[in-house]
Amino acid sequence: MAIQWFPGHMHLTRKAIGERIKDIDVVIELLDARLPASSANPLLAELTGHKPALKILNKQDVADPARTPAWLDWYNARPGTRAIALDASDAAPARRLIDACRQLAPSRRGLSKPMRVLICGIPNVGKSTLINTLSAKREAKTGDEAGITKQEQRIVLDDDFYLWDTPGMLWPRITVPESGYKLAASGAVGRNAYDEEEVALELLAYLKHHYAPLLDARYKLGLQADAIAALHDDELLERIARKRGAVMGGGRLNLQKAAEIVLTDLRSAALGRVTLETPQEFEGWLAAAAVQEKERAERKAEQQRRNERRARNAPPQ
Ligand code: G4P
Repeated sequence: MAIQWFPGHMHLTRKAIGERIKDIDVVIELLDARLPASSANPLLAELTGHKPALKILNKQDVADPARTPAWLDWYNARPGTRAIALDASDAAPARRLIDACRQLAPSRRGLSKPMRVLICGIPNVGKSTLINTLSAKREAKTGDEAGITKQEQRIVLDDDFYLWDTPGMLWPRITVPESGYKLAASGAVGRNAYDEEEVALELLAYLKHHYAPLLDARYKLGLQADAIAALHDDELLERIARKRGAVMGGGRLNLQKAAEIVLTDLRSAALGRVTLETPQEFEGWLAAAAVQEKERAERKAEQQRRNERRARNAPPQ
């Protein structure tokens, strides 16, 4: 079953961004470098339209370094868009951020035409951490629960460079089922919206094909990569449960606990540096979702026609 996630209160964010956007020159969207497309919110593109966009692939320190460049190229190929990779270990991220924004809106310079930038990102993507570093003060509140509410704030990065934090909460939006699992695995979706065991199994189904050596190193599976890839997902989770002592009375495996271990290991990067999607994979998921949507619409239209025929042929009451 796909992850169902319909958070409320987005109308406030929508309204607030809509009001702010007319005075904004560049929109920064902070993304999770481990899921650079799934962590984007398509609503932002709807709200910000043609504004130049800077995509920051944040938490690059825990993403697969072999995959990040492909994602930067993917975003940089879009018109009016620049992409950079960043992480919290960068003590002075302002320079790169300012330079990228200046490239996107070169006419905004000087006190009469200051650069006005809005920074957005789904919860847990590292926005508060970055803003704290940028403002060099402990202003923004950080936390590991999706959705700590914050007030809008303005940070002066340079005499003629202002950064606004997004008012309200920009929740993730699940566009394809695969994104739902990846968002849940990364911790961006509220805990009551998904089943941990289901998400861990989906995660393992991906990791076993792309990061089997990391699974072997973390859980001491003692198997070659192809043997790990050949394991059924349930069997893989069971082996992890056994290796990590997730066992209940009577020797029954505690798969819930094993799932929590896998998710925690991913989030804390104890598993290693992984990226859960490539541009090609994401485009494939989008295309498949579009086909499904078209089929659904066709089925619905056919049903409608059938109902209308039936109503026409029904004897008068
Ligand atoms: P948010 O405002 O977008 O909701 O995110 P926030 O800054 O609260 O960060 C969410 C979590 O991500 C925090 O971890 C934070 O430390 C971590 N984080 C932020 N930037 C980076 C980064 O570049 N790399 C890595 N690896 N982690 C990052 P936490 O476990 O929730 O809290 P804590 O460990 O900071 O106490």
